[in-house]
Amino acid sequence: METNTRGSWGSRVGFILAATGSAVGLGNIWRYPYITGQNGGAAFVLVYVGCVLLIGLPVLIAEISLGRRTNLNPVGAFKAMSTSKAWPWVGYLGVITGVGILSFYLVVAGWTLGYIVRTAFHTTGTFGEFVQDPAIEIGYFTAFLLLTTLVVLGGVEKGIERWSKFLMPMLFLLLIALIGYSLTLEGAAAGIEFYLKPDFGKITGSTILAAMGQAFFSLSLGMGTMITYGSYLSKTESIPFSALAVAVTDTLIAFLAGLMIFPALFSVGLEPTQGPALVFNVLPKVFDTMPGGTIVGLLFFLLLAIAALTSTVSLLEVPVAFLVDQKKWSRQKAVWVLTAIVFVAGLPSALSQGTVQLFSSMSVLGQTDWLSLMNFIFSDLSLPIGGFFLSIFVAWVWGAHHASEEALTGAGSSARRLMVAWRPLIRFISPVIILIVLLNKMFGLFG
Ligand code: PHE
Repeated sequence: METNTRGSWGSRVGFILAATGSAVGLGNIWRYPYITGQNGGAAFVLVYVGCVLLIGLPVLIAEISLGRRTNLNPVGAFKAMSTSKAWPWVGYLGVITGVGILSFYLVVAGWTLGYIVRTAFHTTGTFGEFVQDPAIEIGYFTAFLLLTTLVVLGGVEKGIERWSKFLMPMLFLLLIALIGYSLTLEGAAAGIEFYLKPDFGKITGSTILAAMGQAFFSLSLGMGTMITYGSYLSKTESIPFSALAVAVTDTLIAFLAGLMIFPALFSVGLEPTQGPALVFNVLPKVFDTMPGGTIVGLLFFLLLAIAALTSTVSLLEVPVAFLVDQKKWSRQKAVWVLTAIVFVAGLPSALSQGTVQLFSSMSVLGQTDWLSLMNFIFSDLSLPIGGFFLSIFVAWVWGAHHASEEALTGAGSSARRLMVAWRPLIRFISPVIILIVLLNKMFGLFG
């Protein structure tokens, strides 16, 4: 019924492609390597994989099921399944988080556009200089925002699905080729050791929070993206299988990105702990020394920009679906009003890398610039908080049994076994771990 007017995926693999497109983005290739670098390397990787299995995958299945069952955006989905006035606030938090993440994500996505141009014209000068130019920063940020606007205006099938189809495999192949090159560099072994030989002494409460935040961010969870994308999914598709495909692909791409970055990083003698600048500092150095490096570099930043675009589109789609479903706005009006809001919200992040002192050097919640602060608040705090309430809602208000019936509609018999493990995970294990990690961090920050 609603599916016809709201739009739905155009092909059998449409959902998997679009959901993977949402999951795979800057989170895998920009955020994952620098967070891994800041948190000690190999031990963090293990904690991260644990978070994906014990929290990410169960929450992913829960979100998709709730979306398909209700056919609605996150706010509508909570309203449809409960009469309580409180639950829809989890949906509102998701809508706000979408705008919050976009506000900094688009700035970084703008950097990838900038690096396409810089690679093409062999621009000299450091990353630090590049991000300090206000006109350039605002220009690329705005350009990426408008690209996102245009795709989302096109709607679910023609706008989002079409893009995801063949670019993801290309990104994958390019990563493999770059890993091959990176491993041959002198001094690569130190990078391999850092990335793959765990030192468990490095695991602390902050490491676990960072890993959990990264898992939510990378899998696009905790703000209703997967509720929204699930709402366009047909009843004949297997939710457990789709979720597994998305989680495995996303984790694999992140893992490979690390394998590409760390050998190269150690080979050029840079620090793993340098934060958001990491890949933008390392990769151009690699492309410089590589035969055919200009072409490879161009292709790489182009594919990264496209991977980022399929993610920004999914971020914008959440508040758009909210305004279209709940407020009965036209898609056009919703998209343009949100574009204006995101533009204003993103300006401080765009000016936070040395342009405006106020946003560039601060000390709030352990973060030293506005972009990192937004990243921390919305990725490390807001997404897990949303994920916590979503798990409780699906497991205890809707009911884990009802939810697994929805998940199994259209699924084969092997999915049943997966869902037997899912029930205790979504009822107890995921929410308890999320709560402990969050409370531990809150007490550390404020107490
Ligand atoms: N998962 C995306 C990435 O890794 C970012 C994202 C987060 C998208 C939350 C949607 C929702 O780049």
